[in-house]
This record gives sequence, C-alpha cells and structure tokens, in this order.
Amino acid sequence: MAYENIIVETRDEVGLIRLNRPAALNALSAGLVADVNHALEVFEGNNAIGAVVLTGSDKAFAAGADIKEMKDLSFPETYLEDFIGSWDGVARARKPVIAAVAGYALGGGCEFAMMCDIVIAAENAKFGQPEITLGVIPGSGGTQRLARAIGKAKTMDLCLTGRLMDAGEAERAGLVSRVVPTANLLDEALKVAAQIARQSRPAVLLAKEAVNLAFETSLAEGLKAERRSFYTLFATEDQKEGMAAFAEKRRPRFKNR
Ligand code: HXC
Repeated sequence: MAYENIIVETRDEVGLIRLNRPAALNALSAGLVADVNHALEVFEGNNAIGAVVLTGSDKAFAAGADIKEMKDLSFPETYLEDFIGSWDGVARARKPVIAAVAGYALGGGCEFAMMCDIVIAAENAKFGQPEITLGVIPGSGGTQRLARAIGKAKTMDLCLTGRLMDAGEAERAGLVSRVVPTANLLDEALKVAAQIARQSRPAVLLAKEAVNLAFETSLAEGLKAERRSFYTLFATEDQKEGMAAFAEKRRPRFKNR
C-alpha cells in the first residue's frame, strides 16, 4: 500500500517503515502517525514478519510533533479530542520494533524512539525533549519512559532545560543499546531485526512482554509472570526443536509453533 508520509518495505522476515516528510524533518503530523499505526497493524497481522525497523533519514529520525499543525489548538481541542490519544501505536505493537535513529530525535520523535523495544543510534543522533522551550511539556512518554530509561537526574535536566543529548551520552545513559557509524545504521538495524525474526516467535513475544512487565509491576509479580511464561514455552514445538538442535550441534529450524 502507498502512504503519503512513510515508505514501507519488507526485507525477508523484517518490516521496514521509513518516516518520509523530509521538508519538515519528519515532524510527526496526524497523517504521519496514522500511516505508521496502519503500517504497523499490517505487519502485526502478517505471519511472515517477525520484527519491524522504524527509521527516518540521515538528518532526522523525527524532529518532534508538527509544531505548525498544533500551534493554534485550544485546550478543549487537545483535551476533548485527545489529539495525541492514538500516538502510542508503536508501544502497543506485540512484535519487536527497532528504532534506527540518525540525526534529530526530538520531542515526539524521542518519544517515538522510546516506544520501540531497542534503540540503535547513528553517531550523529541527537536526542532531546525540547518541549519546554515551546511553553509545553512532553506529552507522549517523554517524562515517563525517559525517566525509566535514564533515571531522574538526566530526565529532569533534559525536560527542564530542553538541551540535546548526543549518541554517546544517550548510550552511556541507557537510552540507546548500540551506537554505529551513520552510514551503517540501517544495515545494522536490519541485521538485529533479522536475528530476532529468526528466533521462535512465541518466545520472542513472551520475552518482550516479560521485559516490559518489569516497568509495570512489582518484582515478585514480574518474576512470577516470567517463570509462568518460561514453563509455558515448554508446550511449544519450538522449545523441543531449539533444545534438540543444541544437543545435535545444528541450527534450529523454528516453526513458530
Ligand atoms: C514542524 C518542523 C519541526 C517540527 C523542523 N521543522 N522541526 N516543522 N514541526 N517539530 C521544519 C522547519 O520549520 C523547517 O521548515 C524545516 O523543518 C527544516 O528545519 P530547520 O529548523 O530549518 O532546520 P535546522 O536549522 O537544521 O534545525 C533543526 C532543528 C529545528 C534543531 C531540529 O528544526 C528544531 O528545533 N525543530 C523543532 C524541534 C522541537 O521543538 N521539537 C519538539 C516539538 S513539540 P521550513 O518550512 O521553515 O523550511 C513535541 C511535542 C510532543 O514534539 C508531544 C507528544 C507527541
């Protein structure tokens, strides 16, 4: 399907979504977010796809929500219509989503990246929550997911001053899992996604669910849920295949069953 604001491709078992509003540095408009949500839903429903990569351009992953689109909104328009209520489609995906971030990931762009499961950054990436400089605050996880990812000290620093963080600082702080040369970013992200897509899907989905639970529940509840999922996986053919393949010194052939 052709979209106005994104380019969608598949690479074997990996779905690729590129944000594509170059004239606005991929600013997140309502149309762009609707396109991303739709493309993700299609990948979610496609059994051939095991992981998704979300990326932008070399200059910008996304420079935030579209300021020009929202600048004249009133409080009732934002609140009653919950105008960013559907902007968390990325966070609702069950399949792993990898953010490949080059250039600016600011405001809603940083929040989009944080809704992904793994953030891979190019050396030129810059992260920030500069909403304060516009007279507002982050609205889609910038105070919450960022605080959980990098702690209070840096989150307060970024949200209150609006300063940007480069890729090295973001990796040291724990927002980013790997930093790679800008020219290699997409290849590296696709490689990671392909590696995930090769594993048993039930195990991948349960692993993602279990890690996310660490941010939602108590340690005791999280450990109980993790153990239950671990036991559950012994009901899959893939567990038998994975362990048999290890014992027979060969690569497993998972069937996602
Ligand atoms: C609309 C944007 C935009 C944005 C850039 N553009 N960011 N348009 N919304 N968020 C547009 C510019 O207006 C300009 O269009 C073109 O993209 C190129 O941008 P420049 O500013 O000329 O580029 P540069 O000098 O390289 O500066 C890059 C930049 C700067 C540092 C990223 O564009 C910038 O500060 N952007 C805003 C960043 C920001 O405040 N983000 C948070 C938004 S609020 P023209 O037509 O002039 O060429 C937010 C709230 C989230 O995200 C709430 C929940 C989702």
